[in-house]
Amino acid sequence: MTATKGLEGIVATTSEISSIIDGVLTYRGINIDELAEHATFEETIYLLWHGKLPNRAELKSLMDELAANAALPDELLTQLRTYPPGANSMAALRSAVSALALYDEEANDMSPEANLRKAVKLQAKLPTIVAAFARIREGKEPIQPKSGVSIAHNFLYMLTGKDPDEVAVKALDKALVLHADHELNASTFAARVTVATLSDIYSGVTSAIGALKGPLHGGANEAVMIMLDEIGSIENVESYIMNKLANKEKIMGFGHRVYKNGDPRAKHLQKMSRELGERSGNLKLYEMSVKIEELVTGQKGLKPNVDFYSASVYTTLGIPRDLFTPLFAISRVSGWTAHILEQYSDNRLIRPRAEYTGPANVRYVPIDQR
Ligand code: ACO
Repeated sequence: MTATKGLEGIVATTSEISSIIDGVLTYRGINIDELAEHATFEETIYLLWHGKLPNRAELKSLMDELAANAALPDELLTQLRTYPPGANSMAALRSAVSALALYDEEANDMSPEANLRKAVKLQAKLPTIVAAFARIREGKEPIQPKSGVSIAHNFLYMLTGKDPDEVAVKALDKALVLHADHELNASTFAARVTVATLSDIYSGVTSAIGALKGPLHGGANEAVMIMLDEIGSIENVESYIMNKLANKEKIMGFGHRVYKNGDPRAKHLQKMSRELGERSGNLKLYEMSVKIEELVTGQKGLKPNVDFYSASVYTTLGIPRDLFTPLFAISRVSGWTAHILEQYSDNRLIRPRAEYTGPANVRYVPIDQR
């Protein structure tokens, strides 16, 4: 038995949800480039869950169900008010999603119909949790979700109390489409491992949020913004990056386990970053990002991943940097739940082996002789 560090190259399951083949990402066989251009996030959710794009009636019905389930139980709002204002936003989201199960009577109903209903509830409630947490910590009242608008629109509305303009909604919607699923990434694998024990969907999504939080995975988007803030100006980019590389430190938002010739999602976020920067009359973050990319790609051959340009996109949309990773979760919960439903549909316990590298034949020593 020989271990492969980080399970690199190991094919751990079959899946019909998304694929990465020769650097091309598809959801249910549709190229991500086409979806980014044409699909809404709600159409993407339907596609991931049901394996086909919705017709108008199916899309309306999904949007109605999401709207009907977006409000939080009062008990959860009460609980959110007890979180320390300085709490880590992903820790808060992880705790709140775990707590949601306590207020769902069908939390442990394992029928496929109940699991699909719970996927809807999770998708509907995550944006409301993140927005409520963000407002409560600032001493503001949470804003009730509205119906008849997209998740992207509702999230910005619940965060700020104002209806966002069409450009902001479109940009956020596209970012949500781009983050929705990604084959067997770390958080999706965590979700599948959890539910493969026949544990419930809330446990699976809670595990996934814990895995997404780390800076080697979803936490990288916040880490990119921390880096941009530390650098501060385009003049400082070169010395900052060269110094980091000389010290063998990682540059957040670069590199990928699977893509070695570039992440197909990054170009869409780069374009959005430029367009939003031009529109706001402030291209500083975009220009700093381009310069960082030139240096990191030039020096190390590493290309930006999905997290790199999303940092400047979200900041230009006025989203606080510690909500970037929760925003990733708002999108990825569509993929997590699709994978959880797929896992349940043909389940087998996920239980790999470890290559033992510790000492052998060690005898027990009584406590007084140690
Ligand atoms: N900056 C500098 N060097 C890097 C970077 C980086 N961002 N990424 C990889 N490298 C280097 C490593 O130091 C290593 O060099 P070495 O062989 O000289 O030791 C080599 O490239 C291979 O890197 P690993 O970390 O072994 O690659 P792995 O496949 O395990 O990790 C990962 C992939 C975690 C994405 C890595 O590239 C990384 O840490 N990137 C920064 C964090 C990040 O952006 N994460 C988000 C990924 S996308 C997502 O999850 C949504």
